[in-house]
Amino acid sequence: MPSVISVQGLSKVYESGFEALKSVDLDIQKGEIFALLGPNGAGKTTLISIVCGLVNKSAGSVRVGGHDIVSDYRAARSLIGLVPQELTTDQFEKVEDTVAFTRGLFGKPKNPAHIERILKDLSLWDKRSNQLRTLSGGMKRRVMIAKALSHEPQILFLDEPTAGVDVELRRDMWDVVLRLREAGVTIILTTHYLEEAEEMADRIGVISKGEIILVEEKAALMQKLGRKQLTLLLQEPLAEVPAALSSYDLSLSEDGTELVYTYDTRSERTGITSLMTDLRDADIRFRDLYTVQSSLEEIFVNLVRERR
Ligand SMILES: Nc1ncnc2c1ncn2[C@@H]1O[C@H](COP(=O)(O)OP(=O)(O)OP(=O)(O)O)[C@@H](O)[C@H]1O
Ligand SMILES: [Mg+2]
Repeated sequence: MPSVISVQGLSKVYESGFEALKSVDLDIQKGEIFALLGPNGAGKTTLISIVCGLVNKSAGSVRVGGHDIVSDYRAARSLIGLVPQELTTDQFEKVEDTVAFTRGLFGKPKNPAHIERILKDLSLWDKRSNQLRTLSGGMKRRVMIAKALSHEPQILFLDEPTAGVDVELRRDMWDVVLRLREAGVTIILTTHYLEEAEEMADRIGVISKGEIILVEEKAALMQKLGRKQLTLLLQEPLAEVPAALSSYDLSLSEDGTELVYTYDTRSERTGITSLMTDLRDADIRFRDLYTVQSSLEEIFVNLVRERR
């Protein structure tokens, strides 16, 4: 798949001297949903803001749809819709007007049917004549999404789209996101919620302290997630894994007192029952046992911790 966004060696040092991004390389493929995960202050908003031309980069390059974001800013920016983390709206404007106005900013001809569709998709149609100041926080967020979609962008950035959002809006939003993806729109979202990334994303990237520390297909991450380990604390230490048990994915601790069996929780058979039978036949006894499952949360926390 061709990459629609290409970030190379991107660095950002704020005026304060703080280095928010450290030589970030990232390629986003056309039509994918990419989730960028990372703790507070990791650099997610900085990265998005540079790609969208709101913050100047210190070094490196960014291309959007083949256009350099600095030398070819307008062409690059016109491809992008951004729902920012911080809501910024003119409180006295009316819903319909602000959305139509944003479309105009991108030099697109008026298209009332498109605006109507967006407002209906986001359950804002009834509120179209309301001033923004009369809307609830969640409603305002819907308006931000409508604005971001007003000019029919090919790429949509959602920076923490579900922070402080109720279940209903979250569901509406995901419906909209999935429909956009079906229409070929590329979606990049940031989130603190692993379940959200798990549910929605095709690929997941983890950023910590201004560095991308992992980019992987969700399916591959989930595979790691499905692995579970059963540890048997043996009564008598073993010198090696007995040949009779060689068909199992077993490993022995250095002192020979712990036998670890790794298996896939999602396969039809975990092999545990037959392992138990074979252990008994080999006269291997254990005094205790426990299982450990690595979750995406754990993978994530470990990755981030390793970097501290
Ligand atoms: N204008 C600025 N001047 C100086 N430092 C800044 C500025 N904007 C952001 N930073 C710093 O850069 C780092 C990255 O901030 P950024 O907003 O990109 O993080 P984030 O990953 O989006 O965090 P969050 O999850 O809290 O939204 C933080 O340490 C932040 O304090
Ligand atoms: Mg942020």
